[in-house]
Amino acid sequence: MADETTADALNAQVVAVFPDKVRIVVDKLEDFKLAEESLCVGSYIRIADNENAILIAIIENFEIVVRDDGTRNHIIEAFPLGVLRGGKFERGGDSLAIPPKDVKPATIEDINRIYSESVKVDERFCFSRLSSNLDVQVPVNGNKFFNKHIAIVGSTGSGKSHTLATIIQGAVAEKTGDFSLNNSHVIIFDIHSEYRSAFPDANFLDISNLTLPYWMLNGEELEEFFLDTEANDHNQRNVFKEAIIQDRRATSNGTDVEKQRIHLDSPLPFNIATVLEYAKGKNTEMVPGAKPGDTKQGSLFGKLTNFVSRLENKVNDRRLDFFLGTKSREVTFEDTLRTLLGYSAANKSNITVIDLSGVPFEVLSITVSLISRLIFEYGYVYKRLRCAKDPNEKVSNDVPILLVYEEAHKYVPNSELSKYRSSKTSIERIAKEGRKYGVTLLLASQRPSEISETIFSQCNNFIAMRLTNPVDQSYVKKLLPDSLGSLIDKMTSFRQGEALLVGESVVLPSIVQIVQCDPTPSSNDIAYWELWKEEWKDMDIAGIKAEWYR
Ligand SMILES: Nc1ncnc2c1ncn2[C@@H]1O[C@H](COP(=O)(O)OP(=O)(O)O)[C@@H](O)[C@H]1O
Ligand SMILES: [Mg+2]
Repeated sequence: MADETTADALNAQVVAVFPDKVRIVVDKLEDFKLAEESLCVGSYIRIADNENAILIAIIENFEIVVRDDGTRNHIIEAFPLGVLRGGKFERGGDSLAIPPKDVKPATIEDINRIYSESVKVDERFCFSRLSSNLDVQVPVNGNKFFNKHIAIVGSTGSGKSHTLATIIQGAVAEKTGDFSLNNSHVIIFDIHSEYRSAFPDANFLDISNLTLPYWMLNGEELEEFFLDTEANDHNQRNVFKEAIIQDRRATSNGTDVEKQRIHLDSPLPFNIATVLEYAKGKNTEMVPGAKPGDTKQGSLFGKLTNFVSRLENKVNDRRLDFFLGTKSREVTFEDTLRTLLGYSAANKSNITVIDLSGVPFEVLSITVSLISRLIFEYGYVYKRLRCAKDPNEKVSNDVPILLVYEEAHKYVPNSELSKYRSSKTSIERIAKEGRKYGVTLLLASQRPSEISETIFSQCNNFIAMRLTNPVDQSYVKKLLPDSLGSLIDKMTSFRQGEALLVGESVVLPSIVQIVQCDPTPSSNDIAYWELWKEEWKDMDIAGIKAEWYR
């Protein structure tokens, strides 16, 4: 270490400045701290120059150097975050006049000023505090936050579900006036039945009260769900199409011209039982033979056996009643949309929780896909309607919606498998175009590396919680801006509820502690140890059987 350091009267001084790093030597670490606060990795320091600018940097690491005479020097390396000039904070650290003069730990006032003045009061949304100093609130710009897609990533148990609950509880609580319901609209796909307890006033849908109409599937989804798409059999496809369009025309009240316009994508009811009968008929059809009175097998005779049995299995599967049953056939377009958007007369609600835990795995993708697509198309059509009414309309959707996917890697995986195709298609479309129509995504996942890249690359707000899997870590690092320095490496050692908050909506990439939600989502953790120590419990096998066979 250079000898000048000891000669200098200053306790701490800058010895090197790089674009992404400032190196500081401190003589006596005991003197280089604020009275109430101890310094640690993640603490902020302030470096003043001669021109009234103060560089704020975050400590990345400490090193102790023992000199020949036995005395010790402390070397601090810090990552420059931005510059306070005349009370205003600007991001970036390259505008400091060299040589910098005065190095001190940042005061709470410095830090508070950066955060509190970063967002205008009307736009401020606050759900976290600075991890290194819990007195400092970290606001995000609520407009930027919800207008761009949001990703929450972290290993299991890192606090994703609680974070999600905190954010949404905050979003539905804030109001600009004295009314009971504000205009926030959130739809949560709840795969583990976790969120009912966190949102007691939500509109709650599960397999027992959810009615989804199969006839609202578009052509692609219909084929994917009802046909064996791998077989690529044009006979079954043609018969299927024909039967649906025929039934729609037969039951429509429209004029002849309108009826002619009906096609596979039209969201009009048809009876799936009629389609099945039609296919059965074709599969056993006899047609007039060469001689009068003679009959021979029709052109499709026996060729649709697989298709018929596939369709029969589906139609008769009681587990699929919420989708293929009588109610699904009879429910109206309006009621379906009202229920999903939280606009049903019985329960107007800011939040709709769709509990997917009872949805059979083979229809999960199509369920999520259909609902997501309907919401997207709602946004699309609503915008068109508003712009037609008023060509100067600036707000394309005054009822914007947030769609929340918990365990997103289950619906939008980085996989080409056909069983994910429909949910992936509709969610990717929202990722790419949803913003224009007031439909944004919040994705939570413990396996970010397994999520479709198309989707992740469209996210602008990241809440990265503790992440231990190295593959996921490096994947997330790639997605985050390069300018984060070693903040990113802290991700491996975060506490529960601690996160790296990054994005356009926040003034600085910050390590924060998410405010605890209230009430909490129900945990999936089973208290094995406590349960095992209790007395032997009897089991209702008959009841289990009844549920199994339902
Ligand atoms: N912001 C927080 N503050 C304090 N504790 C938290 C916070 N978030 C989560 N926890 C704790 O961590 C546990 C796991 O959180 P959870 O949200 O279920 O994680 P994940 O969804 O990532 O598996 C919770 O039971 C809760 O006690
Ligand atoms: Mg969770």
